[in-house]
Amino acid sequence: MNNFIFQNATKVYFGKGCVKEYLGCKSKPYSTVMLAYGGGSIKRNGVYEEVTGILRDAGKTIVEFSGIMSNPTYAKVQEGAKLARENHVDMILAVGGGSVMDCCKAVSLAARYDGDIWEDFWTRPGVIDFEPLPLGVIVTVAGTGSECNGGAVITNEEKKIKTGRDYPQLNPQFALMDPTYTYSVPKGQMVSGSFDILSHIMETYFSEPNEDNVSDDIMEALMRSVIRNLRAAIQNPEDYTARSNLMWDSTMAENRVIKMGKKCDFQCHNMEHQLGAYTDCNHGCGLAVLHPVYYRHIYQAGLPKFARFAENVWGIARDGKTDEALALAGIDALAEFIRKIGLPTTLKELGVRRDQLKEIADSCGISAGSYQKMTHEEILKIFQECYE
Ligand code: NZQ
Ligand code: ZN
Repeated sequence: MNNFIFQNATKVYFGKGCVKEYLGCKSKPYSTVMLAYGGGSIKRNGVYEEVTGILRDAGKTIVEFSGIMSNPTYAKVQEGAKLARENHVDMILAVGGGSVMDCCKAVSLAARYDGDIWEDFWTRPGVIDFEPLPLGVIVTVAGTGSECNGGAVITNEEKKIKTGRDYPQLNPQFALMDPTYTYSVPKGQMVSGSFDILSHIMETYFSEPNEDNVSDDIMEALMRSVIRNLRAAIQNPEDYTARSNLMWDSTMAENRVIKMGKKCDFQCHNMEHQLGAYTDCNHGCGLAVLHPVYYRHIYQAGLPKFARFAENVWGIARDGKTDEALALAGIDALAEFIRKIGLPTTLKELGVRRDQLKEIADSCGISAGSYQKMTHEEILKIFQECYE
């Protein structure tokens, strides 16, 4: 294994009823809470009422920051920071998915910083030598794993860049995770969020080193868990076991545990983020379109690992197959899974225009960790193969 340092500062409270049980005590040290949420799903499923009731009973002043969009923008971050400053907010409570959590991480930084956080922390890695506003999160949809890392992916609309940074200081102080809160997530979002989990795991699994290491073993178990539990949750959206497993799979994929000792590839994410910057497409859907095609481009450079993926994740028997045949069968199984769970399979379906492909391809970051380093020309080829 490669050398590493591991820390994860977020304290997790997981399970049915955890918000009722712990939110009061977690918000105790603070007086003015910024309640941040998205487009209103929490008002329809009862979560808003439950959370505001607890905060009111605890005597908090509530400042609402609503309308955080999927693929949160830098302008929205600035709006939140201004609101937090003007109202002397001393704690942010993000209630939602990756978009709300990411936006709030950036707000927690921007509210305590006089300069331009995009320039100083997202354009390039910055140094946080001050305390961001304390942040707690209540997760309502599984997918990004943002609750247990310092990552925040923000879209700068003017510059047409969607990019993330992971600052350990932006790890939420606490995460409340009640799987029943995810019962109301529509099927389309549940499957795209679950594919995001799978993508996070695959992007780590398909990277050096490949010799025996505990991270790869954990990842195979996690991938099987996502596949199995997503199938079960599609059958019964209120299957508590399936929803809890998906919720924890999502955290496990992005709480840094599986990345220890691994190099990590982030190429599909780099490509998807730029598709998002140009078209505002759904994150998990973009990843689903890209992954099989991307893997058909790189599998030969990581053949034994792709063969192992086919056997250990998809249960495909070797039966005398060569590594190459097995690897391709594994990628086919992934593509078939994507199709069966109803995710899009072409960029056209995502609303991307053919005449945008080159500009988007040229804007993508190149990952250092993949088995085979991409070029902008090859990314364009991948986009063209994914188009329709
Ligand atoms: O906005 P509302 O009305 O709340 O509806 C949301 C939204 O439409 C809905 N939703 C959430 N919980 C619900 C619910 N609907 C019904 N019932 C519930 N309980 O789901 C929709 C999607 O929400 P969003 O937060 O946008 O999804 P997700 O969690 O997939 O987050 C996506 C964002 O996170 C970034 C993505 O790029 C994207 O910007 N990522 C963040 C990462 C991180 N911080 O570690 C890593 C990821 O790779 C990813 O890039
Ligand atoms: Zn992702």
